[in-house]
Amino acid sequence: MDKIREFFNQAAADEEHYPAAIDPRIWHVKLVLEQMKGCAKVADVGCGKGRFARLVGEQGSTVYALDLAEAMLAHVPAGIRRCAASMTALPLATASCDGAYATESLEHAVDIPAAVAELCRIVKPGGKIVIIDKSAEAWGRLETPEWEKWFGRRELEDLLRRHCRSVRSQPISYWEDVEPDGLFLAWFAVK
Ligand SMILES: C[S@@+](CC[C@H](N)C(=O)[O-])C[C@H]1O[C@@H](n2cnc3c(N)ncnc32)[C@H](O)[C@@H]1O
Repeated sequence: MDKIREFFNQAAADEEHYPAAIDPRIWHVKLVLEQMKGCAKVADVGCGKGRFARLVGEQGSTVYALDLAEAMLAHVPAGIRRCAASMTALPLATASCDGAYATESLEHAVDIPAAVAELCRIVKPGGKIVIIDKSAEAWGRLETPEWEKWFGRRELEDLLRRHCRSVRSQPISYWEDVEPDGLFLAWFAVK
């Protein structure tokens, strides 16, 4: 885990590949905002620089931004609570959040079942969970560090079903009106 933390602490200086802001018209963002709407307390797990957290916070939620890399957290906007933590051991109480999401961070968790279990543990029964990540079917399309893992739809659905009562997934693209090209998948669960 030290190696992964160090990688992302250095990557924080790379604003081109790890930007601090995101266009709210991007489908990934619209889906997260839609699912987190009305959630009083939300966890952004593997938040990076907090580009999603900022928008979820603007929607009225109290957001807890959690990330392994302190240098990423240093960019999280003021007003959002931040904490250095691994997604396999989140410092939030069981059933304390109304919603939680992980965008392009689960792929770095290494112990994927443990990370999914944590994401679900902190959410209240009836609360919402969103995971956006890359599809195993597209593996090889981008350069990846050796620990990174991409997912099958069924694989993450099954992990989420261990903890959640309703689970679904769908392919997504950056823009809602553009046919998904197979790189990104979104999973939605209700605990
Ligand atoms: C590709 S970035 C995505 C950041 C953010 N979710 C976004 O979409 O802008 C992946 C993030 O996951 C974080 N990360 C990697 N492994 C982690 C772990 N075990 N626990 C928490 N965060 C982790 C990294 O530090 C990095 O900020």
